[in-house]
Amino acid sequence: MRQKILFATGNAGKMREIREILQDMDAEILSMKEAGIEADIQENGTTFEENAVIKAKAVAAAAGQSEVIVLADDSGLEIDYLNKEPGIYSARYLGENTSYAVKNQNLIDRLEGVPDHKRTARFVCAIAAVLPEGEVITTRGVIEGRIDYEEKGSNGFGYDPIFYVPEFGRTTAELSIDEKNRVSHRARALEDMKTKLKERLLPGEKVDV
Ligand code: IMP
Repeated sequence: MRQKILFATGNAGKMREIREILQDMDAEILSMKEAGIEADIQENGTTFEENAVIKAKAVAAAAGQSEVIVLADDSGLEIDYLNKEPGIYSARYLGENTSYAVKNQNLIDRLEGVPDHKRTARFVCAIAAVLPEGEVITTRGVIEGRIDYEEKGSNGFGYDPIFYVPEFGRTTAELSIDEKNRVSHRARALEDMKTKLKERLLPGEKVDV
């Protein structure tokens, strides 16, 4: 039977990236919507890892299927000049329903007059997995960049239009999905998670998980 992996997110942009990254796995990837699960989760952790574990455990409990692997992520943007704001509050920054056009412009405004070398920032992603036996593992991925002076590009989501990646000379909203998935925080955390899952699930055997 194909392994089912349930990814605990309601964010369509993230789900697109996740499917792309996990497509080489011989597993059925389900979103919460596809699995028919609704969970009102209080993300009251103090780190990305804590929040990812909270989400994965809550969704595993709601799913109630022991053979499913539940993955959840928590991610956000850390801006060094703003003491790592918005950080774990990235989705909630200026209010959950505020548009990213407004959030992005607000961050650009808060960095007015700040030179390139002080505009350093990173996207961070922690992924937690609840395995069928209840074991919990976490991984973390990071992409370093800096905050641009204006929004650029229309790919991706969230803060992508203001996140400039020096190695590409573009914002992550100007990268194709393939380019972003080669270097993104989520891709790095997920790649690491794929390796760990392979080790845990069938140690000693080569499996396409
Ligand atoms: P989460 O859904 O609680 O993990 O919140 C993550 C938030 O961080 C998103 O809603 C975005 O605001 C921001 N974020 C995380 N990853 C990305 C990304 O790849 N591009 C742009 N914004 C991101």
